[in-house]
Amino acid sequence: MDTPPTLRKTALITGASAGIGRDYARYLAAEGYDLILTARRTDRLEELGRELSDAFATQVNVIPADLADPHAPMQLAAEIAKRDLQVDYLVNNAGYQVPGFFDQVRWEVQRDMMQVLMTAVAQLAHIFGPDMARRGFGRIVNIASVAAFVPGQQGGALYPSVKAFVLRFSQSLATEYRDTGVHVIAVCPGFTWSEFHDVAGNRTQMNKLPSFMWLDGPRVVTDAHKAVEAGRGPVIISGWVYKTLVTLLQIIPDNLLARMGSRSVRNAQARPEDRRETLPTPAAAKPQTKARKPATKKSVTKKPATKKLASKASAKKPAKRAERKAAPKAANSS
Ligand SMILES: NC(=O)c1ccc[n+]([C@@H]2O[C@H](COP(=O)([O-])OP(=O)(O)OC[C@H]3O[C@@H](n4cnc5c(N)ncnc54)[C@H](OP(=O)(O)O)[C@@H]3O)[C@@H](O)[C@H]2O)c1
Repeated sequence: MDTPPTLRKTALITGASAGIGRDYARYLAAEGYDLILTARRTDRLEELGRELSDAFATQVNVIPADLADPHAPMQLAAEIAKRDLQVDYLVNNAGYQVPGFFDQVRWEVQRDMMQVLMTAVAQLAHIFGPDMARRGFGRIVNIASVAAFVPGQQGGALYPSVKAFVLRFSQSLATEYRDTGVHVIAVCPGFTWSEFHDVAGNRTQMNKLPSFMWLDGPRVVTDAHKAVEAGRGPVIISGWVYKTLVTLLQIIPDNLLARMGSRSVRNAQARPEDRRETLPTPAAAKPQTKARKPATKKSVTKKPATKKLASKASAKKPAKRAERKAAPKAANSS
């Protein structure tokens, strides 16, 4: 691209060290954008920077950040200002899945995930959006997922929750920025080739999925960029498979889908490093080793209803817990 340097625009891409973020960087470099690349793995970002400078004469700034740190978005903004750069195009892409039942995973892991996939997304838009609107040009591309349309899943419970946030947030922001020159979209990929499922620890299971279920990163990026340029959206879904799936997900009642989701064990197994040390064991979940004592006159007169309910619960719950433990490690949603 022969765009004169003064007319060149700059894109900030989070999670640019791998997968969709790296593909986005390559695409925008070829389109004549300069880049600010961020993620935790600096070596990867610098290598990508060299590749793109050589291929497209792109001016690349690498600013490492761990977006799980609540201070990271402001620190990133301060470094961008210090380098006298501006952000015309923001790609909120960094993300990952945390498999395992909600209560089996350490709180810090859950909290960090919400910080990276939700709070940082909103805060970066909050930091850079106003200047885009003032200049009359801006692009905010938030990478959500088809999981945003899934009304509940067991295992990895926060993933559809945070992606639904990204979807709704993007829709609202697109409405607020209408007629300002700032285009906002939520991109909802289905299963996409990247390191996502390696990080989640379920690559082997995921590789068993048929090829028509898979998207490639450049396809997702091309669809996203064309849509945001044209002011389409605000919700963008790639490929007929996922367009059909999302249509079905919107037609079938949520309660029915949630019940179907409760039979799935695809995201059941927590990664060893994420596991809570000790799980609080509700009294009702303890296996009954002894025969229940016949209720004494005293206990019956004092708390008859509670006793009855507790004994029913204790008869059912151990089986459920045992099921959880035995659940095979399997595919996660993306
Ligand atoms: N692949 C799929 O099937 C799929 C489907 C739907 C949606 N998505 C979404 O697409 C986005 C990109 O995922 P991907 O598939 O490209 O996965 P990926 O290949 O694993 O890339 C994830 C990127 O996020 C960065 N990241 C992770 N934790 C971070 C942190 N704490 N701070 C800063 N950066 C962090 C990683 O960089 P570092 O490790 O170097 O920090 C990496 O660059 C995610 O939001 C994901 O939820 C993926």
